[in-house]
Amino acid sequence: MTLRIAPSILSADFGRLAEDVARVEQGGADLIHVDVMDGRFVPNITIGVPVARALHRVATVPLDIHLMIVEPERHIEAFADAGAAMLSVHVEISPHLHRTLEAIKALGVQAGAVLNPSTPATVVAPVARLVDFVLVMSVNPGFSGQTYIPESARKVRVVRTILDEVHNDAPVEIDGGIQPGNAGDVVAAGAEILVAGSAIYGADDPAEATQALRQAALAGAPMGLRESR
Ligand code: DX5
Ligand code: ZN
Repeated sequence: MTLRIAPSILSADFGRLAEDVARVEQGGADLIHVDVMDGRFVPNITIGVPVARALHRVATVPLDIHLMIVEPERHIEAFADAGAAMLSVHVEISPHLHRTLEAIKALGVQAGAVLNPSTPATVVAPVARLVDFVLVMSVNPGFSGQTYIPESARKVRVVRTILDEVHNDAPVEIDGGIQPGNAGDVVAAGAEILVAGSAIYGADDPAEATQALRQAALAGAPMGLRESR
């Protein structure tokens, strides 16, 4: 098991994106989480392919692109070309999830399935052998700065079990309301990638906040957790 911290640039200063990426990298960020929203699947509109491409130019760590858009399959090639290392699609908006995950993998990108808070963990079972990671939403997607939904840790546990049953060691990622106060619990439940927006970019020093989140997460980690750096 490897712990990775993925700051979400949704909470960064969009006028200083390169600088804000560098700050969290200084704090030991393992990934940059990029939230793509279309104002249809979720109420908010954020960024698209050109900004992802620009982030890829300046980031020294891989981009983890979270698609919150309708018909995500129409855009995976563009985001892969823009430099995504990880690309995740919501199961609620992917009627041909198996095909979409295969298409992402065929582009040489890690494929993730994302579950909204009200979506049962069991939807992952039919694609459990295929996924490279599973993202459990711990808020309803659309905005940063929302409150963590406590049932999420249990869902992480169930998803972990489903993956373990097919001997897939793909990590479980968690996104929404993650901060030092709950990081230990979600890691104890089996989460290995922690996304955090406001907890990192809302802090005076995002580099320090990235480190603090890692320390809090490690406190909940089971014995034998391999540090990622
Ligand atoms: C929410 C996004 C998140 C968000 C996290 O829809 O998917 O990645 O930026 O922000 P916090 O950590 O503030 O909940
Ligand atoms: Zn996200």
